[in-house]
Amino acid sequence: MDEQTKSWRIVAVRRLSEAQLKSLSEVAEVDYFEDVDESNRADFMTALSKAHGLIGGKLELDETMLAEAPELQVVSTISVGYDHLPLEALNRRGILLCNTPDVLTETTADTAFALIMATQRRLVELASLVRDGGWRAHIGAEHFGVDVHSKTLGIVGAGRIGTAIARRGALGFGMPILYTASSSKTALEQQLGAQRRELNDLLAESDIVCISVPYNDDTHHLIDADALARMKPTAALINIARGKVVDEPALIEALRCSGIRAAGLDVFAEEPLPANSPLAAMNNVVMTPHIGSATHETREAMAQLAVVNLLGALIGSGPLNAVNVNDWLRSAANAKEA
Ligand code: DGY
Repeated sequence: MDEQTKSWRIVAVRRLSEAQLKSLSEVAEVDYFEDVDESNRADFMTALSKAHGLIGGKLELDETMLAEAPELQVVSTISVGYDHLPLEALNRRGILLCNTPDVLTETTADTAFALIMATQRRLVELASLVRDGGWRAHIGAEHFGVDVHSKTLGIVGAGRIGTAIARRGALGFGMPILYTASSSKTALEQQLGAQRRELNDLLAESDIVCISVPYNDDTHHLIDADALARMKPTAALINIARGKVVDEPALIEALRCSGIRAAGLDVFAEEPLPANSPLAAMNNVVMTPHIGSATHETREAMAQLAVVNLLGALIGSGPLNAVNVNDWLRSAANAKEA
């Protein structure tokens, strides 16, 4: 190991396995934090001030913290989404940002389908009825659900995860598929018979609307009161993307006054969901605590990919997934010229 390699310092936060920490520590000094909170924030900042690489899940990093991390070269997030990270500030500093797409696609699509099934068939509500001793007679129409098979599934954002949800719907449940995307997806159309729609038309025609767009300025409150008003009153909204894609007060209102029938939500405007959120008291809402990718296998694969990304970026063999590689190359070229 050469001197340059040995002098790397890495700060790792949350849920890396022993084997993964060992891989990192073979090439760098590693400061590992199982969590960062008020009790150890000062230690975390001291470690970050010397770090060349930062890796972890749910990383909290802002411009002020970046200013105290003069050596930082790579941030490797254990997530596909990076809306929680200050991309512009990272670009200004020429810091490479790596994420973990692909390895979580199928698991997150499974989560979407779990929410679809639970919402249509009222699984959580009716399981509680049995558990709480409320099942005393034959179930009648007041407890009936709604079919999943053959219903029209509208995918808002037919990227990797949206496409995997569409595949489950079309091939597993015989659902006609509508989708939004910036351009037509030939494979989706040819293999699944999916049809592209403008958002407003998709909302009006779908029985189940599933949101799978990344969160950014363009998608903030994409599903607002107007959008919800376009949905069928019998329709369900499923969100496995980011809470702020939906105007949550508008959603609560739509659910309260039968603007739509039900919602299945894995993500919320504020996480963890405040206990006093009106959503928590609604029988027509199924909620999970942001578990899109949360299986043993997938979280392990995401952490492994994040390790490979970080080491590839630091050592120079190249990361597998970099979000801002063009900005990073530009910044490297500028630094060379200066
Ligand atoms: C992701 O990877 O972005 C998931 O939503 C977990 O945060």
